[in-house]
Amino acid sequence: MPDATVSSADAPTGNPHLAPYNARGLKGRILSGVQPTGNLHLGNYLGAIRNFARLQDDYECLYCVVDQHAITVPQDPALLASQTREIAAAFLAAGVDGGKQIIFNQSMVPAHAQLAWVFNCVARMGWMSRMTQFKEKAGKDRENVSLGLFAYPALMAADILIYKATHVPVGEDQKQHLELTRDIAIKFNNDFNAPDFFPITEPLIFGAATRVMSLRDGTKKMSKSDPSDQSRINLTDDADAIALKIRRAKTDPLPMPESEADAEKRPDADNLLGIFAALADREKTDVVSEFAGKQFSEFKAALTELAVARLGPVGAEMQRLMKDPGHVDAVLRDGAARARALADPILDEVYRTVGFLKP
Ligand code: TYM
Repeated sequence: MPDATVSSADAPTGNPHLAPYNARGLKGRILSGVQPTGNLHLGNYLGAIRNFARLQDDYECLYCVVDQHAITVPQDPALLASQTREIAAAFLAAGVDGGKQIIFNQSMVPAHAQLAWVFNCVARMGWMSRMTQFKEKAGKDRENVSLGLFAYPALMAADILIYKATHVPVGEDQKQHLELTRDIAIKFNNDFNAPDFFPITEPLIFGAATRVMSLRDGTKKMSKSDPSDQSRINLTDDADAIALKIRRAKTDPLPMPESEADAEKRPDADNLLGIFAALADREKTDVVSEFAGKQFSEFKAALTELAVARLGPVGAEMQRLMKDPGHVDAVLRDGAARARALADPILDEVYRTVGFLKP
């Protein structure tokens, strides 16, 4: 990872949650999740999924398809099932080793939802009301959105803390949810007089594209829910579709930026330069100097070639795996069994700490 800058501070020495991993030559335990809603796009790939594979030699990893998060807004049940398989296929196609690491879907491990209820009683209404993603998703229609959409970040905290995960790789848009996860952990530890029970999780946000923007508007995040398919590159797009979307990507009338400072004032150009740097595994300053003062057409041709070379094999492997749903289902079932074995004893400890009697 040449340009990896991990946003979090190094974990303090003596952290009891890290010791068992450090003893095994690992840096900690990772959990991350992706919603099975709509098409996976370049932002999901560069901000999260590609990093999942890159971290797997240094951490014990659990990668989760968060189907219970998906139903916070209405879903077509048949589509939800196929999209759950598609996300699992993307994890595998991006290089995650499903034999060594754990790939599973959330609803197969009931302890997530069970811990989420406890966290619903720890998190404060005020904290939840400040979540910008909730405000954006609910928009003006707050009275009509599901209760689940409001409580979503408490379930996300449970996804992470049911494994006492120490690190969470995500794109920048999830930062606030991870801060809430830390607040919930701290409050639980204090409220129940259980110091160090839950770890204070560190976000891992790194690479040149931690927030990939729309190809149609460099001030808006690239998103699965954008009605314009031209706004994003989907992981399953073929070479022609990728070429067309990059050719049509919004730019400004000037030549390519002369410096990073110049690029920062031009969001569309800045976004494309960040995408190039991330796909090429190069520093952005280096990419800016290579194309400084050139025409966008020349840069876009180079970006297309690079994007097709990098994404083509991932998309093709996803398509191949999608033709073998039996294999994907077996990976999910096996992953879920291993995840339950880790989560259930932690839920037991939580229940004992809270004062629930055992059956
Ligand atoms: P989701 O499904 O929206 O996105 C999955 C991952 O992709 C990242 N991402 C982006 N990164 C860069 N640029 C973008 N335009 C972009 N869009 C999305 C997200 O940051 C995320 O890492 N709440 C989470 C899912 C979740 C989760 C968890 C994540 C549920 N439980 C526990 C981590 C740990 C979400 O909706 O991601």
